[in-house]
Amino acid sequence: MTTNVKLQAWVKEMADMCQPDQIYWCDGSQEEYDRLMQGMVDAGMAEPLDPEKRPGCFSFNSDPSDVARVENRTYIASKTKEAAGPTNNWINPDELKETMKGLYKGCMKGRTMYVIPFSMGPIGSPISKIGVELTDSAYVVCNMRIMTRVGAKVLETLGGNGEFVPCLHSVGAPKEAGQKDGKWPCAPMEKKYISHFPEERTIWSFGSGYGGNALLGKKCFALRIASVIARDEGWLAEHMLILKLTSPKGVVKYICGAFPSACGKTNLAMLVPTIPGWKVETIGDDIAWMKYGKDGRLYAINPEAGFFGVAPGTSLDSNPNAMHSIEKNTIFTNVGVTDDKDIWWEGMGVDAPDHLIDWKNNDWTPASEAPAAHPNARFTAPASQCPVIAPEWEDPAGVPISAILIGGRRPSTIPLVHESFDWKHGVFMGSIMGSEITAAAISDKIGQVRRDPFAMLPFMGYNVCDYLQHWLDVGAASTEDKLPKIFYVNWFRKDKDGKWLWPGYGENSRVLKWICERVSGEGEAVKTPIGYMPTTDAIDTTGLDVSADDMAELLKVNNEEWLKEVESIKAHYENYGRMPQELKNQLEALEARLKA
Ligand code: GTP
Ligand code: SPV
Ligand code: MN
Repeated sequence: MTTNVKLQAWVKEMADMCQPDQIYWCDGSQEEYDRLMQGMVDAGMAEPLDPEKRPGCFSFNSDPSDVARVENRTYIASKTKEAAGPTNNWINPDELKETMKGLYKGCMKGRTMYVIPFSMGPIGSPISKIGVELTDSAYVVCNMRIMTRVGAKVLETLGGNGEFVPCLHSVGAPKEAGQKDGKWPCAPMEKKYISHFPEERTIWSFGSGYGGNALLGKKCFALRIASVIARDEGWLAEHMLILKLTSPKGVVKYICGAFPSACGKTNLAMLVPTIPGWKVETIGDDIAWMKYGKDGRLYAINPEAGFFGVAPGTSLDSNPNAMHSIEKNTIFTNVGVTDDKDIWWEGMGVDAPDHLIDWKNNDWTPASEAPAAHPNARFTAPASQCPVIAPEWEDPAGVPISAILIGGRRPSTIPLVHESFDWKHGVFMGSIMGSEITAAAISDKIGQVRRDPFAMLPFMGYNVCDYLQHWLDVGAASTEDKLPKIFYVNWFRKDKDGKWLWPGYGENSRVLKWICERVSGEGEAVKTPIGYMPTTDAIDTTGLDVSADDMAELLKVNNEEWLKEVESIKAHYENYGRMPQELKNQLEALEARLKA
């Protein structure tokens, strides 16, 4: 329990509305986790995996309709539509609350309301923020315990009058007396609402039990609400990995990377370099909060405590550190479960077994047409289990950032790597980012390229034009020599037959090496119309299996394609409305350089 009067009053008010059978305050202990997990096993919702092969691991299969974030049911309910901007769904907050109160009324009947006090960032750190999630899902409680810091210590830190972000969550499936639960209770799509009230710094989520819709510390708090707080307080809350790169000479650089969902953040954060002597260690794989230190440099912390990573495609070959992170104490959602109670998914690098139970709870054999794992199947694993977690990953002071990478899935036009001329140009590059839509959100447009500024399109808590202006303002508060350099990377170029031109994964270390050299004031580069690019021999290709022709293609600036890109960006800027003048100037200057 708590001495915080505001928290007590809020829990009571929400319980009066949702009418749970009981209220339970989570202490975040292992005993509590084990007990809740056992309850879900007994109810047939969770499957324990083989204790020898996967100790402490459980598998869940979601309802087939509840498999990813739901962007078209996600709302930024600021007081005005203008404040939410052209990229967010908006409903008047009073109206939305009325609608949702109707849904919440009695929604926890037959269930327990769990109270989860959690900290984003190390408990007690000046940069950390406290939230309290109320949920009727034990699955959410167990996942939140891995993804955030949960427990009594948080309530102690909160004290009698500390601030917290109230996060209300219900799966939206009340139970009549005696009614047996389904494997994955949730509400139909038209009743799902993932709502944010930025002025009140409050989150109301209804109807989904999956990932970012339900684990409210993650995208809802640490990005959508935190981006609003960051705007007000002069810092950055971003959809970014954070890695530590050490050169053979022992030079250490910290690098952030903004790639859209399912575009390679977890992989890059844990990368095993293919070039000898280089080392990558992980600070975070999805979210970075960046604030200025007294020295005028940006310092980043990872507000999370675990990884909620994409399972398919993860193998000992592509990402061994992720595979080792999930050997124990991991929750798997929507993967295949083998007859000997281990996991399997497409791209795991081991042959499919003759038989398994797929994510839809059906028998599956290698002859089956449907995949065994959903493309957005995920693992939830403690970050502390990552073999290359950096010793300083929980340092409350954060780590000083030397470079920010941005990128996405672009089969053409965008070269392997280019560097911005300066911060403003880097913000321009962030504003024009695009990527193919992936399975991380429910969409009928998977594979189509969309603009996704700084990989934050689905995660900005306010107007995109103000968001980009904020990036410019943050840069203006320091000087070029102290600011991170911004690099645009693209691991996803394809040839005319649709095959990857670049091998990616560990080979991306070759690009990191050049970036490290550039931020150290070394590294050869040529000035092109789009930015600085490595000279033909500046990327270390020793032992790399890519033809010279492909390498040239990867590092080419195709003016014709870029001029088409400029036309498309103009339309994109028009759509956004009142874009910062600086960015419009940048666009004009790019066009002029391409035509010169
Ligand atoms: P979210 O957790 O959704 O934010 O995703 P993420 O950005 O962390 O992406 P992740 O690292 O999980 O990668 C998503 C998918 O992209 C996986 O299937 C990876 O195998 C694949 N992938 C990652 N890096 C590369 C790469 O360098 N090249 C190629 N071709 N695929 C990659
Ligand atoms: C993403 O979609 O970017 C994720 C997964 O990291 S989720 O937590 O579902 O948002
Ligand atoms: Mn993400």
